[in-house]
Amino acid sequence: MLKKVHKFQKGKENKDGKMALTFLLCLTFLTFVSSGVVSAAEKGTHLDRGKVKGGCKTCHKPSGKGKGRIVDLCLRCHGPSGSAEERAKTNIYSLLMKRSNHPIIDTSKYHKTGEALPEKDTAMPRHVSCQDCHNTHMTSPRNRMARIKGTSLAGAKKMAEKEAEVCYNCHSDSINLPSSSSNMRLEFDPANASYHPVERVAKGRSTSLFKEIAQGSFITCTQCHEPHGSDYPPLLRVNYNTLDGAESLYAYELCYTCHNRDSILSNQSFKGSQSNDYGHKEHIIYQKASCYTCHASHGSSTNPHLIQFNPSVVTGAGQYLDYGSGRAQCNLTCHSKVHR
Ligand code: HEC
Ligand code: HEC
Ligand code: HEC
Ligand code: HEC
Ligand code: HEC
Ligand code: HEC
Ligand code: HEC
Repeated sequence: MLKKVHKFQKGKENKDGKMALTFLLCLTFLTFVSSGVVSAAEKGTHLDRGKVKGGCKTCHKPSGKGKGRIVDLCLRCHGPSGSAEERAKTNIYSLLMKRSNHPIIDTSKYHKTGEALPEKDTAMPRHVSCQDCHNTHMTSPRNRMARIKGTSLAGAKKMAEKEAEVCYNCHSDSINLPSSSSNMRLEFDPANASYHPVERVAKGRSTSLFKEIAQGSFITCTQCHEPHGSDYPPLLRVNYNTLDGAESLYAYELCYTCHNRDSILSNQSFKGSQSNDYGHKEHIIYQKASCYTCHASHGSSTNPHLIQFNPSVVTGAGQYLDYGSGRAQCNLTCHSKVHR
């Protein structure tokens, strides 16, 4: 019985990107529960009558009608359009309308149930849908990505155990990865010289880290990125100026949520090559260099301390020599000024 339902639903969805959420409710319910898709112990939010009063028929029409895009179903409750008594607390629609967003409204129609990601076929359009990150029956406050297929750090398919493995489905080995994008699986590879600790504890030591984030802890992609939409591209939680300019709390707010601004600007870590004047403070305040001019956001395959010079500012050899204890020397040219 369950097989039949699967087939029916897949067929519908693959044809035109739409799906009829229809079936014989009474029969399905039994197979559905007994197949272990829903275990009583781990009831997802949407199957909790305290949260979605109407139960299965809220989303599945027993009558044979009720065709429509899944994203519209989701936004009926997670947006402003649905009835007041159904409406969820979280308005995802308003996030999708922001300047930088996951293109869910436009591209979710290309999602196919059971599709293979990262895509290997150049004809497969880039897309992202609610179901790519959320299993509607299983999602809960404890695990919003419960029961979603992922891609491991080594590139293998598996049930996702952590968030990054879901992101790698589309931001790693995809054949259609945009040229402006990089393979995140490789960015966070523990074989790299340095990386933000998404996969492994960082190799370096961060003196500037706020006490609330213990050294040796892990961070997630969505501590920096808002997964639905934001005012700060690319999908960042708060502002980050990647272009050089005047320093302020706002300009580098993203970094300053975890790294203490006072520590950075008083050269506690980066002291400079000759005297204490040529470290972070000189570069950031007086030369108005953005963190991005010197640092990678994710990982660097060759340099420690996430050093990776922005090629549109820094030219020349771009050589970085680490002398230890906060002193370094760089042989390069910034804005065509020779620098050593
Ligand atoms: C909040 C909306 C919502 C509710 C409530 C809901 N479903 Fe679903 N259901 C969906 C969506 C969306 C899909 C398609 C998932 C996909 O294709 O990724 C689905 C798919 C299914 C499938 C196809 C097999 C599968 O797991 O993909 C069955 C069977 C099913 N639902 C049964 C039920 C039953 C029985 C209930 C009540 C206990 C229920 N659903 C409650 C939204 C809902
Ligand atoms: C009938 C209304 C309804 C529909 C339709 C609906 N949701 Fe929800 N959803 C809720 C409510 C209520 C909550 C509880 C949290 C809240 O109020 O925001 C929730 C919570 C969630 C959560 C967070 C889990 C949690 O409890 O914190 C996710 C993720 C989610 N929904 C995704 C979806 C997706 C994806 C769809 C479409 C397939 C969908 N929802 C359709 C009502 C709905
Ligand atoms: C790229 C993956 C991704 C996609 C696509 C996505 N989400 Fe989410 N969503 C997440 C993650 C990760 C979280 C938990 C982090 C957070 O709370 O911000 C989340 C959280 C949520 C929550 C709970 C928010 C809260 O503050 O309680 C809801 C509701 C939700 N998503 C609904 C949706 C709906 C509806 C869609 C489709 C329109 C969607 N999501 C598409 C990744 C995604
Ligand atoms: C099902 C596919 C899919 C998944 C899963 C997914 N994304 Fe995306 N993401 C996209 C698509 C499509 C775009 C639009 C640009 C493109 O084609 O890469 C995008 C864009 C982005 C961008 C903006 C890139 C830019 O250059 O403007 C960020 C940042 C991002 N995603 C982060 C994430 C994070 C973090 C996760 C995991 C929580 C995630 N994505 C999961 C498909 C996906
Ligand atoms: C410490 C904060 C931080 C973390 C953690 C982080 N990112 Fe980013 N990400 C950024 C910043 C800042 C940018 C924009 C500047 C840049 O491109 O380096 C960015 C850019 C991106 C882009 C667009 C540019 C590109 O290189 O493709 C994607 C896609 C992306 N991130 C995905 C991810 C995924 C997936 C994860 C987790 C596996 C992740 N990010 C973890 C801060 C972060
Ligand atoms: C001119 C290049 C340059 C710029 C601009 C720069 N940094 Fe650095 N940063 C370095 C170097 C070099 C080190 C390594 C110092 C050492 O040898 O330990 C470093 C180390 C760090 C560290 C690790 C040590 C610690 O203090 O925790 C953090 C974090 C850091 N920088 C954050 C930032 C932030 C945030 C900005 C922007 C507000 C920024 N940097 C701007 C060159 C730069
Ligand atoms: C969500 C918190 C968070 C945010 C946001 C964040 N970082 Fe970090 N950063 C960390 C953690 C955790 C470490 C690892 C520190 C440790 O274990 O000692 C780290 C380490 C670093 C290091 C040192 C890496 C090494 O191997 O020596 C640099 C440089 C750095 N971050 C720069 C930045 C810059 C630039 C930004 C803004 C784009 C930023 N960070 C945003 C949490 C964060």
